[in-house]
Amino acid sequence: MKKVSYKELGLVNTKKMFAKAVKGGYAIPAFNFNTMEQMQAIVQAAVETKSPVIMQVSKGARKYANPTILRYMAQGAVEYAKELGCKNPQIVLHLDHGDSFETCKSCIDMGFSSVMIDGSSLPFKENIKLTKKVVAYAHKYDVTVEAELGVLAGVEDEVSAAESHYTKPEEVIEFATKTGCDSLAISIGTSHGAYKFKPEQCTRDPKTGLLIPPPLAFDVLKAIEKKLPGFPIVLHGSSSVPQEYVKIINENGGKLPDAVGIPESQLRKAAKSAVCKINIDSDSRLAMTAAVRQYFAKNPGHFDPRQYLGPAREEMKKLYEHKIVKVLGSNNKL
Ligand code: G3H
Ligand code: 13P
Ligand code: ZN
Repeated sequence: MKKVSYKELGLVNTKKMFAKAVKGGYAIPAFNFNTMEQMQAIVQAAVETKSPVIMQVSKGARKYANPTILRYMAQGAVEYAKELGCKNPQIVLHLDHGDSFETCKSCIDMGFSSVMIDGSSLPFKENIKLTKKVVAYAHKYDVTVEAELGVLAGVEDEVSAAESHYTKPEEVIEFATKTGCDSLAISIGTSHGAYKFKPEQCTRDPKTGLLIPPPLAFDVLKAIEKKLPGFPIVLHGSSSVPQEYVKIINENGGKLPDAVGIPESQLRKAAKSAVCKINIDSDSRLAMTAAVRQYFAKNPGHFDPRQYLGPAREEMKKLYEHKIVKVLGSNNKL
């Protein structure tokens, strides 16, 4: 396929957006998407709340949706935002957890405005080498690069780790300086998916019986901020796993025992610091699943996808708006 610059698609990179967010004490939402309904809900929520937004796709999402279709969906997202009345949409198309130089290059060549190279499972020096190579290519096209240092618990696409290894603050200056990356994803206790902590790591609320997870390592975040003042920090694995969705899913044929996420109060605190990008995927999956399960429980005879995907899209939009306004604080920042 012919190379295309994100600028031709009306997208922006993360540079100015992050600088503003760090200064302003808020974070930019980074929502994963795989389907048209997710994309529409993200754009509607961003336009209504006047928020900049990062639409991100994993390697798996590229495979699911097809890279060419995604490029047109991103272009469509910008045009749709304008159609909804936003004069100057600030939309980033970002590769989430890029696993090789080749994947990052392919995304840059196909209109992405930002890429993540996830070398977090590599030894420190190899992570630097790979990240530096991606930065050199990306910066030629004014594409911004997110790197990762420290390993999150759980599964990160094809990068897996049995336990969480917090980012070492003493490594961040060398890493950022040698790689030239534009932002850094760190590990302070978040993880991917809907089961972020084992029940034995949590306490239980005696009234509700719900699990209360342990706090994030804010001391590590503070130490990193001190080493790299003003440098954009990213948090992955930041879904809160809303218990109302878990309940709806479990009451309508689903089975998500002891699903638990990061409390929103912890994320609000992080968003006010140097954390300027917060990744949310699982919560949108839960919103969609809860809405679809509830719909089918009430309407067993229906089979037109628009009938059940419509309410799912509406629920995701509600969720995205809630995150933007009540958690990240990125509303009214266009
Ligand atoms: O960090 C991983 C994201 O939630 C993407 O997940 O690889 O299943 O698309 P995925
Ligand atoms: P969640 O699974 O917590 O939504 O994290 C998503 C993420 O970090 C995508 O990169
Ligand atoms: Zn992630």
